[in-house]
Amino acid sequence: MVDKSIEVDEVDPELQTQPLVPEVPNPHTDSAEELLDYIKEKPGSLLELANQSIVSARQFNRDMLVQLCRLAAKYEKNPIPVQRPLTGKILISAFYEPSTRTRLSFESAWHRLGGDIMSITDAATTGIAKGESYQDVAEMLSGYGDLVVLRDTNERAIYEMMESLRIPIINAGNGVDEHPTQALADMYAIFKWRKNLIEYDLKSTEKVRVGIIGVPDRMRTVRSLLLFLSLFPESWEEVVIISNAKKVFSEGQREELEERGLKIRVSADMDKELPELDIIYINAIAWVGDSYEEHGMEYKLDKNSKMKESAIILHPLARGDELSTDLDKTEHNWYFDQARGAVFMRMALLTCYVWLF
Ligand code: CP
Repeated sequence: MVDKSIEVDEVDPELQTQPLVPEVPNPHTDSAEELLDYIKEKPGSLLELANQSIVSARQFNRDMLVQLCRLAAKYEKNPIPVQRPLTGKILISAFYEPSTRTRLSFESAWHRLGGDIMSITDAATTGIAKGESYQDVAEMLSGYGDLVVLRDTNERAIYEMMESLRIPIINAGNGVDEHPTQALADMYAIFKWRKNLIEYDLKSTEKVRVGIIGVPDRMRTVRSLLLFLSLFPESWEEVVIISNAKKVFSEGQREELEERGLKIRVSADMDKELPELDIIYINAIAWVGDSYEEHGMEYKLDKNSKMKESAIILHPLARGDELSTDLDKTEHNWYFDQARGAVFMRMALLTCYVWLF
């Protein structure tokens, strides 16, 4: 007979002194509580989101965004809510394109609110692989669940589903078009960092300069973020797009953002711009079809980059060589908090969907 007992004496003594749960506190825990105290509760604007499909960042106004951040902060303070408003509701989590953060944070948010989930993680396991139309798939989903969260490389897929869908749908990334809930998480991180940026009457010294290292024409995260930044035009000294792409904006995109009040400048010289930036948003990939495009790979950030000491870095992740891991343990790292906060922001959005808070 094999002796399966553990020889405790054989364990490395150094390991025996290690805590069972690593003691790595979230460095920004207090900022959610501070934001919660700072924003006055006025949930009326969120009523408009009840039972609604979310396709674009254009559907949101300033009040909605601020109140969603407040609600997200409330959930961050207490991630295990007493009320479980999604009990008995079923989420259909349909990801026809790879995802780590968006799918898992939506599912985490839905679970925390008490709901049940059916998950599709590969279109090849569904009728789409047999040539079934999005309209027919949507007809079926309407009978099986209460809300769809869809990611698809095809920009039109969400619109085609909506032709026959009888339950709400949330856009979790449609091709290179938009990713509105990622941008909600971005704004939540920004307001946790500087809560006064939600105000209309900032002094010129309180405004911040935003740098976006990316291509608004090709990156859905950047497209949605710019729309949200344009809801708070007084908060930004300017928004500097750092890119050497031949086509930085799509047709009419820059004009729309400027009409909404955003001051935009384009620069190809990252080293010249970096020392003046307060918020540095970086992304280098755009998922297209079955693969991804790389953009601006010559722009790289590491701990020796000439940034303001107080500058924060945001990244929608997944990262590549553009964002060195040597930044992870620096004060610049807000990208992990941005990804973590997405759970609470998605909890806030999903609560509005059933309007029970
Ligand atoms: N930010 C983002 O969309 O990440 P995933 O692709 O992992 O969902």
